[in-house]
Amino acid sequence: MTALDTAPTTTPLSVAMREGSMSEHEQAEHAGFTTDLMAGKINALGYLHYLEGLRTVYRALEKVGRELATTSPVDGIHDTQLERSSALDADIDYWAARAGVAAGSHSSPAAEAYAARIEATVDNPARYAAHHYTRYLGDLSGGLAIGRILARTYELDADGEGLSFYRFEQIEKPKVYKDGYRAALDALPVTAEQRDEIVTEVKAAFGCNQAFFVELGENLAAYQR
Ligand code: HEM
Repeated sequence: MTALDTAPTTTPLSVAMREGSMSEHEQAEHAGFTTDLMAGKINALGYLHYLEGLRTVYRALEKVGRELATTSPVDGIHDTQLERSSALDADIDYWAARAGVAAGSHSSPAAEAYAARIEATVDNPARYAAHHYTRYLGDLSGGLAIGRILARTYELDADGEGLSFYRFEQIEKPKVYKDGYRAALDALPVTAEQRDEIVTEVKAAFGCNQAFFVELGENLAAYQR
């Protein structure tokens, strides 16, 4: 046996995270609410409630992110350019007006449970990193496709009101950014135990998104256009 054969092979963290959550990702793509959203069948009220839930989640994500920004391993991936809270505030005002309802009147137990899960990572930066990856890399991937569909469905200007969530003003090339993000993940100084913890938490983060979609799906009749 050569030295090469015995060298330990460690899957890069970014690959372990993607591969470890593949079936959860597929499930998220096929949730009732997501399918209708991608088909342009969700009305302004449904989209507003979706954004309001996301705001609950991103407030937690970005509050804890700022608290952990200088701690390892979050310091390798934290970037205020990714933050979505202000964009969500602006979009919520737009969609509430369009739906003809007051902003902030909808509550989402699933979004609150998701936010609580994120808040509980404040003592465990490795687990926080899993949430950071699940949301922001998703936003820079399939999320951008959702933005394009919404622009078409609602005849909106992608650079105009209502779609701020999909605009990363300071990130010109999402693909380049994502490649850099994955490289940063792979360079994180994590122990084997933390790696496993991160992959497990990515699955849990997908589970939180799934629960949120299921909850939205319960109201589908009111949300279909
Ligand atoms: C309609 C729903 C969705 C569609 C169509 C979709 C589509 C995609 C596509 C095409 C990619 C690959 C992009 C690339 O190669 O760079 C991707 C990646 C990703 N998506 Fe989704 N997605 C959806 C929902 C979600 C949800 C709900 C989440 C979690 C919040 C999510 C999280 C991710 C993540 C983390 C990645 C990056 C994977 C990696 O490269 O490590 N996606 N998505």
